[in-house]
Amino acid sequence: MTDFGWIYRVLLAAACWLGPAGSSCPVLECWFVQEVSGRGGGLTGATNQIRSLLHIRRDAHSQPPRAPSDIEPERVFSITDPVGTLCHSALNPPMGSIKKPQCEMNRFLPQPSPLKWVAPLTDSAISPVYLQADWFSVSNQGFNDQLIISNVIRAPTASRELDVILSVSTRTVSVQSRLGEPVLLDCSFWTDPSSPLSGSGFALEWRYQFRGDGRLVVAYDGKTDHFVDTQEGEATLDFEDVHKNGNASLILREAKVHHSGKYICAVYLPYLVAQVTVELEIVEPPSLSIHPSPLPLAVPGQALTVQCEASGFAPLSLELSWRFKGADGKSRSLGAGSMTGHRQAWDGTYSQSSRLELETTGMGLSKGGELSCVATHPSGTQQTSVTVNVIAFSTPSIEDSMAMVGVALVLYGLIKFISWTFTSSEKQLKKYKINCCSLKPLKLSIFTLIMGFHEEWCNSRV
Ligand SMILES: *[C@@H]1O[C@H](CO)[C@@H](O)[C@H](O)[C@H]1NC(C)=O
Repeated sequence: MTDFGWIYRVLLAAACWLGPAGSSCPVLECWFVQEVSGRGGGLTGATNQIRSLLHIRRDAHSQPPRAPSDIEPERVFSITDPVGTLCHSALNPPMGSIKKPQCEMNRFLPQPSPLKWVAPLTDSAISPVYLQADWFSVSNQGFNDQLIISNVIRAPTASRELDVILSVSTRTVSVQSRLGEPVLLDCSFWTDPSSPLSGSGFALEWRYQFRGDGRLVVAYDGKTDHFVDTQEGEATLDFEDVHKNGNASLILREAKVHHSGKYICAVYLPYLVAQVTVELEIVEPPSLSIHPSPLPLAVPGQALTVQCEASGFAPLSLELSWRFKGADGKSRSLGAGSMTGHRQAWDGTYSQSSRLELETTGMGLSKGGELSCVATHPSGTQQTSVTVNVIAFSTPSIEDSMAMVGVALVLYGLIKFISWTFTSSEKQLKKYKINCCSLKPLKLSIFTLIMGFHEEWCNSRV
């Protein structure tokens, strides 16, 4: 027997040395949190944390490793986890990785639950001898948010050989979804079939929490196969999978803005409960538009008021800024403009806009260019652009001035001539008693036109 122990130790040392390359169960560093009595007093429960080592093994035969000198031997535990949930690679990070998995261990007090869908579990009396033991809860969070595991663990009193009795885990620690898509919030559980508690059925529930607001999403009494749904079919579980594989994943049929928040998956055995939290965020990018579009033609020096509207986005965490790319190809920031307050649409999405007074003088703006509105949002950065056209304007040259005077003179002459023609042709018509309907007046008026123009011209020469 001692020979086998020696072999196990060598194997374990080899596995530890190989590190993540081997699929060995890890030795977890864990903070044992316990309340300190007699200090501080009052309602604030003072706690202290003691560094502990958890040696995870799939069966009870492998020997625990020797404790490092800086950890007291009574702080080294062996945990038997037959399904190996605690052997996940997320709890066994590569050597030298900065992000470490987290582990916390607390004492656990088995007690019956008053919840309506859990209470039937403790109807039949269970031997209290089994409950009289040391119970712990151990919570692990893998690095990079890959995994959360919550275990209820039992040890015969004063023993450091522990057994996982109930294990709940999720591989979707934080979920992002766009609006309208189906969402899967993962939750799996395992119960020790050799435990007298697992023969009496289980119950599970999903609760929702957001900024202090909590409510039940679904609850399921696995003993009587009774389902409580508070979401009018928005959320569902696959009950066959729940019973067969311990897959308690929650499916939201269609993501809505008000679904953002924390979801707690809690699994109950008689007197025991373990739970994990999944965070869901609905992230919908904004649609951007600039008004007016297209921009009106601007005269140099004229200020244009431009508005950028971002709509249909969630969550409410948006920054708008303006950029201008001049004809010279240089891009410059024009700041944030003045942001308006936000509005919320019927579907819970937000809209917000920014107003910019665009001065078309200086800073290379006078030749026009491209104006962009940039939105920075958890969904990413996006932008929309409009073209700024400024009328080219320069001081007139001497030739231009002369031409303008010429045009003015011609115009003056034309006006003068037309007014003279009208008055004199009326006189002529009366003098010659010409019938308005005959053709003569036409010839006559052409004649008078020419004569009049000549006279006017002569007058102007004198
Ligand atoms: C649990 O069920 C969902 C669908 O209901 C599935 O997508 C998921 O992969 C299952 N999880 C496991 C661990 O089998």
